[in-house]
Amino acid sequence: MIAINSERLKRSLEEMGEIGLNDPGAGRTRLTLSQEDREGRNLFVRWLEEAGLQVCLDPVGNIWGIRQGRDMKAKPVMAGSHLDTVKNAGMFDGALGVLAALEVIRTLNDHGIRTEKPLAVAAFTNEEGARFQPDMMGSMFAAGLLDLERALGSMDDDHVTVGMALEETGYSGNDRLEASAYLELHVEQGPVLHREGMDIGIVQGIQGIAWWYGTYKGEANHAGTTPLEYRKDSLLAAAELCCELRKLAEELGNDTRSTVGRLHPLPDVVNVIPAETWFTIDFRQYDKKLFESGKEKVESLVAKIAEKHGLDFQLEQRVDALPIRFPLSMVHLVERVARKSGCSYMNLPSGAGHDAQFMHRLCPTAMIFVPSIGGRSHCPEESTDWKDVDRGADVLLKSMLELAGLVYEGTGV
Ligand code: GLV
Ligand code: MN
Ligand code: MN
Repeated sequence: MIAINSERLKRSLEEMGEIGLNDPGAGRTRLTLSQEDREGRNLFVRWLEEAGLQVCLDPVGNIWGIRQGRDMKAKPVMAGSHLDTVKNAGMFDGALGVLAALEVIRTLNDHGIRTEKPLAVAAFTNEEGARFQPDMMGSMFAAGLLDLERALGSMDDDHVTVGMALEETGYSGNDRLEASAYLELHVEQGPVLHREGMDIGIVQGIQGIAWWYGTYKGEANHAGTTPLEYRKDSLLAAAELCCELRKLAEELGNDTRSTVGRLHPLPDVVNVIPAETWFTIDFRQYDKKLFESGKEKVESLVAKIAEKHGLDFQLEQRVDALPIRFPLSMVHLVERVARKSGCSYMNLPSGAGHDAQFMHRLCPTAMIFVPSIGGRSHCPEESTDWKDVDRGADVLLKSMLELAGLVYEGTGV
């Protein structure tokens, strides 16, 4: 029976994981289209070329490599994920899906196996959204749901746009991404599989994600002389917002999540009442109706707190990724493969966003999860057992073969 090369996959993940490495214990940082991301892309492209793939690049910097099948006209069966990271990230988020897909190709090359449909390995631009918004930018563009102009104009905190960063890194092209099906292997990033002792998670769908960037505008004044009732303290309002958002998530129930991940008071001085405070809001919910009504509640909460504190405010929504469900035919295909491979598995929804959330809008899509130890992710402690990496890559290999159709089995199979 054909099997992926576990050692080679481990080496590739470790080598990619070295790029952007921070001080010991602080993980790695490869923000979208940074020098570190460029280095990761260069390595990936070299590996695609070494595997004999035709390398393609689109106007937002999505990279994919195509391995021809017997049917030259068919759209490829694609697998992939992303190579960008949040700050201080683990080694697996994104890179696992990309490099396991590459390992599938390398394995088929080793065994001289040809498929009916072409296969493709993809690395999407800016899945994380840590530098530019919206997140999942590359897959959203590929699915035709994001204008090129809006993507290229997206600006980071230093006023550098995606367009400028693409020019700087040289990762802009003119190819058009197409796929007949899409598969994404990813670490779960939550505690369920590890806690339940399951090998594989088969993802039913992905919850909706909404992000806002907001500012409360008050008045700078002296911390010692300004009586409490005279103040227009923007940070106090933002602090109240943090607590109220948490309460809102609890009240809505049904696994609603709300997070303030960034909070910046200005002028940021010990004895000055903060004149302006800008903040971000991340709001998630799996149920479509609750997602929609929850978003309205978030926006009215921001306004209500501004009014209570006598402040002006601005609120800009930068992400609105709707909840999705994967087609049952694709879910069942992965289930079948996992069962035949002797893996224990369970179905579960995804709490994290993934490129699959938008590729789903382009072609039949499925996701395979492997356990995250202790459920940790988006932090240096993120980890997955190598045995689980192996199982996940194996299920990916077999699922891709089912979708692409086997033509020729070389020796050693
Ligand atoms: C991406 O990792 C997200 O879920 O924010
Ligand atoms: Mn990811
Ligand atoms: Mn992530």
